[in-house]
Amino acid sequence: MLINHKVVYLCKMIIYLIGYMGSGKSTLGKSLADALGFSWIDLDTEFETRYKISIPAFFEKYGENAFRELEHKVLSEFFSASDVVISTGGGTPCFHDNMKLMNQSGITVYLMASPELILSRIEATARKRPVFQLMQGNNSLQNIANHLKSREPFYKLAKITVDAANPNISELKISIQDYNTIIPGV
Ligand code: S3P
Repeated sequence: MLINHKVVYLCKMIIYLIGYMGSGKSTLGKSLADALGFSWIDLDTEFETRYKISIPAFFEKYGENAFRELEHKVLSEFFSASDVVISTGGGTPCFHDNMKLMNQSGITVYLMASPELILSRIEATARKRPVFQLMQGNNSLQNIANHLKSREPFYKLAKITVDAANPNISELKISIQDYNTIIPGV
């Protein structure tokens, strides 16, 4: 007879990492996928591979609305995936009901970063970020702060929030497992 023994089933899982550009979604995504034994998908890379064009080139040629439609299409193809960590693009949760759909199909994790941290990370990477380049005005920090504020209502719908300055994989793993654990008979 098993006393005090809980049988824990982990269901099919999709973890969506969301957050502003430069919040570290790709870096955390890879480490988290390793820690969970899941596969890792970077939505931007998936987009670029699928459509054989870089995101900056796509923005330049077809504009943001077309990008958001195809971004939604690529994302939707993963709604029935299992055991995968998906690092989304910074704008993904804010268009086409994506945030609602991600919350329905998996566990959303928001990497919360300050405008200062975001700016320092964006400046440190050579990668072109069209949305950042499209921002008007000379004060980059203020631009990011304003833009982040407009996106926060979406980001804040995430099931789990972690500090982007210092993400702790072990704690995050526990929060995810708590969300997704079925304990029969309890
Ligand atoms: C975007 C962020 C980018 C990429 C695209 C649009 C945004 O991804 O999806 O350039 O709207 O914030 P990262 O967050 O990985 O830079």
